Amino acid sequence: SDSMGEAMDHDMEGHMDHDEEPNLTDSTGENELEIPAALGSESDKEDEVAYTVRAQKGETEIFDGTKTKTLGYNGDFLGPVLRFNKGDKVKIKTINDLDEETTFHWHGLEVPGEADGGPHESLKPGEEKVIEFEVTQEASTLWFHPHPDGETAEQVYNGLAGLIYIEDNNSEDLGLPDKYGENDIPLIFQDKTFDDEKQLNYSAAMNEDGTVGDTSLINGTLNPKLTVNQEKVRLRLLNGSNARNYTFKLNTGDSFEQIATDGGMLNEPEKLNEITLTPSERAEIVIDFSQLDAEDELALINDEDGSTLLPFEVSDQKGEDSDLPDKMNDFSITDEEKNLPVAKKVELYGMMDKVTINGKKFDPDRIDFTQEQGDTEVWEIYNKPDEMGGMVHPFHIHGAQYKVLSRDGEEPPKNEQGWKDTISVEPDETVKVAVQFKEKGVYMFHCHNLEHEDNGMMGQVKVE
Ligand code: C2O
Ligand code: CU
Repeated sequence: SDSMGEAMDHDMEGHMDHDEEPNLTDSTGENELEIPAALGSESDKEDEVAYTVRAQKGETEIFDGTKTKTLGYNGDFLGPVLRFNKGDKVKIKTINDLDEETTFHWHGLEVPGEADGGPHESLKPGEEKVIEFEVTQEASTLWFHPHPDGETAEQVYNGLAGLIYIEDNNSEDLGLPDKYGENDIPLIFQDKTFDDEKQLNYSAAMNEDGTVGDTSLINGTLNPKLTVNQEKVRLRLLNGSNARNYTFKLNTGDSFEQIATDGGMLNEPEKLNEITLTPSERAEIVIDFSQLDAEDELALINDEDGSTLLPFEVSDQKGEDSDLPDKMNDFSITDEEKNLPVAKKVELYGMMDKVTINGKKFDPDRIDFTQEQGDTEVWEIYNKPDEMGGMVHPFHIHGAQYKVLSRDGEEPPKNEQGWKDTISVEPDETVKVAVQFKEKGVYMFHCHNLEHEDNGMMGQVKVE
């Protein structure tokens, strides 16, 4: 309105842009989904894996006949899957072959601070660094991406993201679909804007409140479809977008089973009709195709805008005949944990480039919190509404998998009763989580809307 100042007009415009984010185009299903390669270990010793991970520039034929400039790990776009078993000793040689600084952050891994790849672990162009750690956490689907101070969003947007799979004795004994690329499928959901030359032009597409695009890519594939056999198929969903939220649903409204959260298996499969993932959240779901055939036009849709993300094509091949186990894990929240006092308060506030945590912007030279290694503390996260009402913030803590104690004082939904490293917090909502760090170091906590993160919605906890 007339009475509003310039700055306010600008803020409102940006904020409204976000509310009116473009719908995603429907997948035509003309391309078979790309499955990222699994990276081979360079060590032949048992219980030891050695990988080389190189951040590099590339060109990718996303649109037929056109090369789009992209970034990737060990390739042109996105990255390979790094596989670990619980107990493995891991050595990763990280190499920066970009023209700019980057870091290698292992999202969800419980590693010592110096191996975590936060903004303090920056590598200059041409530099390399070997990191070592031991895998002490349970089976889960994690991911890796860069984390340079203020430049994370653009590097992820341009293609730097890959998956990490951890397996353990439990996950291997459950009889879950586990044929990689056949009935165990990774799905990295991202949205991009392409310019007239079919290039990713981050500065043109950038929105301070979260960059959203109109073009959906899954594993980097435009217009994907997934061909499946007549069997149960496990999908490992990662919301790898900068800022878009997805509500995954089947076009028929049929149910599926969620079997895992960000950091581990649920205790039992949870039957759902839809699941919302904010940026960087993961979920593993199982869809039963055993009674379907080529006539069935099943597709995964995004219920936020009704777009078709991934049509399925059911082949005439009978696959494995398997039942999901009733019991998959023994995750629990103890009474002691439930009764702990709040030790840390986190207030998320603001929009556009004015976002803050506890009224402050990120300062690499400031430690915001300290916590003792091995101690469990309750963090209370509050999303304080702004004059526009506010927006959901996905809150992530490095170096730990945590337990959700409550949402606005209520028990969290069943499918959040498992290990989490990122949790959506709605405007005016308070979420309490129990956090324990196994290792020492300085870890980031931040909003995983990557533009908010780059705009300073981030703090540091020192674990000693
Ligand atoms: Cu997915 Cu600070 O990270
Ligand atoms: Cu945010």
